Amino acid sequence: MKARRICVALTGAGISAESGLRTFRGPDGLWEGHRLEEVATPEAWARDPETVLRFYNWRRAEVRAAEPNAAHRALVDLEARYTVHIVTQNIDDLHERAGSRHVLHLHGEILKARSTRDPALVIPLGGRDIHLGDRCPLGSQLRPHVVWFGEPVPAMAEAAELAAQADLFLVIGTSLVVYPAAGLVDWVPARAAKYWINPDIPPQGRLPGFHCIAGPAGAALPELVRRLLQD
Ligand code: OAD
Repeated sequence: MKARRICVALTGAGISAESGLRTFRGPDGLWEGHRLEEVATPEAWARDPETVLRFYNWRRAEVRAAEPNAAHRALVDLEARYTVHIVTQNIDDLHERAGSRHVLHLHGEILKARSTRDPALVIPLGGRDIHLGDRCPLGSQLRPHVVWFGEPVPAMAEAAELAAQADLFLVIGTSLVVYPAAGLVDWVPARAAKYWINPDIPPQGRLPGFHCIAGPAGAALPELVRRLLQD
């Protein structure tokens, strides 16, 4: 029997845009009056943890109210033919709710909290807010289980290993400006088929060897998946 081919999909905020979750760097990229960098840093947490918690409690509520869209579902359909590994920069759970089986979160998960004493101590929130005074079993304040600017990205090593095995590599809904995530494309073998889906691919941003599809993921990805399943 032939080994199943491997698809790795690097996704970003754009894949969840049609679910009603705003992207970071669009014209409406202000979040409750904050730039993301102002509330998503260890410095912000040290200075004003209450504002940081309020910000993420608000984002968590938005995620819970959102539903997966046709692009999330298309990646599930692709599992009929490929072993699909999703490497997402998104902290929402829309890939999981659509039914994708292998999802690696590079920047954490909003529906989980983490101990400030032991980063390995991760606690599902089941949709609850986090407040000042909420403590982990070790007694330290809980924080959102998200990667802030300036923090390491521990899942990056596993993501790079996956990218290096890809027969098919998809880049969907990301501006590819935040590292190390954006550097994942450098791990993809030359022999892999590569596609970049984004309604707004900047001319200077074209990636060597990638087929660029300029369109919203909700329409362009199901169409691409239909073709890939027929090949
Ligand atoms: P960005 O906001 O930087 O980029 C979103 C991309 O999605 C843009 O290139 C848009 O053109 C594109 N886009 C918009 N609507 C789309 C649609 N319907 N279909 C497909 N693409 C669409 O978001 P990310 O690249 O995800 O990190 O940002 C990367 C990281 O920066 C985030 O994970 C977050 C942020 O700061 C942290 O919080 C650590």
